[in-house]
Amino acid sequence: MFYRNPELYEKYRPQTLDELVGRESLVNYIKSHLGDPNYGRDALMFVGESGTGKTTTARIIGSLYADQDTAAFDYREFPGARIGTIDIVREDISYWIRTYPMGKKWKVLVIDEAQGMSQPAKEAFLDLIENSPEHRLFIFTATRTAEGKIPFSKPLTSRFKVFPFDPLPAWAVATFLQRVAAGEGWGTVPSDVIQTIILEAQGNLRNAIQMLEMRRFETGTVLPQAVMDAFQRFKTIYGKKEPDDQRVQALRTCGVLWKRFQDELARGGSAPSTAYGEIVQGFEALARTLEAP
Ligand SMILES: Nc1ncnc2c1ncn2[C@@H]1O[C@H](COP(=O)(O)OP(=O)(O)OP(=O)(O)O)[C@@H](O)[C@H]1O
Ligand SMILES: [Mg+2]
Repeated sequence: MFYRNPELYEKYRPQTLDELVGRESLVNYIKSHLGDPNYGRDALMFVGESGTGKTTTARIIGSLYADQDTAAFDYREFPGARIGTIDIVREDISYWIRTYPMGKKWKVLVIDEAQGMSQPAKEAFLDLIENSPEHRLFIFTATRTAEGKIPFSKPLTSRFKVFPFDPLPAWAVATFLQRVAAGEGWGTVPSDVIQTIILEAQGNLRNAIQMLEMRRFETGTVLPQAVMDAFQRFKTIYGKKEPDDQRVQALRTCGVLWKRFQDELARGGSAPSTAYGEIVQGFEALARTLEAP
């Protein structure tokens, strides 16, 4: 089993519009409309490929439009697959959207992977969007059909401003990878590694970040903080089960690695080094032995 750090792409999920890479036209649209007093109601649809920021962008925009103090009342997010019956739209959602916002801003409804809704539920949005009060924002995220089409009827699609979420361009993938590498203390990623990941990830940043993680020791120098992080992850995995022979053995190896780390710290201090990279790899390998079935 490949040892993965499941938090990594969550850690680098952008929290603000400016952290998004490759979404300029959408970001400009939002910035020019937010705060415009004549701007009353809106419906946005993000359709495209996996790992290109659809869900992330919907959440960021939601956090800008809904008052954060009252977000528990004014912001709702549903997975499309949970909206099976028309009643959920006609009763629950429709009632909620018509009531006034509790805070000073808008009410925001995000339907993630909206193509998963049942057909009648989708159609119920025709009326709901058209007849909702002002200061209501609807955001649908969706994946295209196998034929590359938008998975909604023309009348429904026409109620939205559709923003295509195409695979991210090479420069955006490269920018994102260098940001993650810098944030994790993995040093600058050499251009050949970047090029390979760009080709393999095909514009999907979730994939790109996982590929970078697999290849990060090819990035050369590593900061001591990365050793601390790898050690913490090892400790978590170690603590998941009662000690047995294998765990006792792993603890011994851990001691050896820790000693190497201390020696390297005494020698090189906080400067990045390949030795730190090797120690991280040691902890990762050790964690892998404990995770193996
Ligand atoms: N435009 C972007 N800018 C910066 N990071 C991004 C961008 N798009 C995706 N990411 C990274 O990829 C991860 C996944 O993004 P997100 O969940 O928004 O993708 P998605 O388009 O909703 O994919 P899916 O269709 O698989 O749900 C994010 O946590 C973030 O780390
Ligand atoms: Mg998503």
